Amino acid sequence: PTSRTAIIAGNWKMNYGPQKASEFTMEIMPSLGQLMRSYPRILCLLCPPAISLSSVREVVDAMPAPRIELGAQNMYYEEKGAFTGEIAPAMVKELCTSVILGHSERRTYFGETDELVNKKARAAFAHRLRPIICIGENLEQFESGSTQEVIRTQIQGSLAGFTPEQAARAVIAYEPIWAIGTGKAATAEQAGLVVHFIREQYSEMYGTEAGDAVRILYGGSVTSENIAEFIAHPDIDGALVGGASLKPDFVEIVRKTI
Ligand code: G3P
Repeated sequence: PTSRTAIIAGNWKMNYGPQKASEFTMEIMPSLGQLMRSYPRILCLLCPPAISLSSVREVVDAMPAPRIELGAQNMYYEEKGAFTGEIAPAMVKELCTSVILGHSERRTYFGETDELVNKKARAAFAHRLRPIICIGENLEQFESGSTQEVIRTQIQGSLAGFTPEQAARAVIAYEPIWAIGTGKAATAEQAGLVVHFIREQYSEMYGTEAGDAVRILYGGSVTSENIAEFIAHPDIDGALVGGASLKPDFVEIVRKTI
């Protein structure tokens, strides 16, 4: 990832309630902490379900290690009030540095649009949260060769209206939907081409400085077996890991990123 600090983020999705989340964090923290103490050029994010954030926070605080931070998997953009079931940015900020926004599962199952994702991203910036904004094409779009078009639309919609400073601080996760949870990761070459395209589009929108600074992650069936190929690509700055982040393999992914 050239001069950019790599990011390995574990998206636990709807797995591990407070107790299991705490146990799992306790299991991985000793080896993860040791790695993080030896290598300053990586940031590690744990993104459990919202209800488990506090219990994971407690374990991470009790076993201090540098650059292990928490992220939420979603949030709302309003400050507070009558929005049953939602979580406000300031609440996320109490426990987290980051928030995943616009994951394809949220777009597919919960109807999230680029416009909504954009509102959430702006709210994240307003609260000094680091948004990890997910984009990616589905199988049909991939097979019909419309990946670039889909990505361009998502970028223009989800990433619009940032200041140059915000643009540089944002993190983008490229997750081809056909590679999520399927065990069929994109090749590093395929992913690298799209990630490069994302960086170019981003530079056009926000200038080359922001384009050079923005961290772009790959997501989709990442494991300790394939992470090295992705990280070797000069435009790919790390990974958003699903299934493998629920297992000690997550620590191996971090080890192979360094
Ligand atoms: O956000 C991570 C993701 O959607 C990839 O999931 O299980 O294919 O690593 P997985």
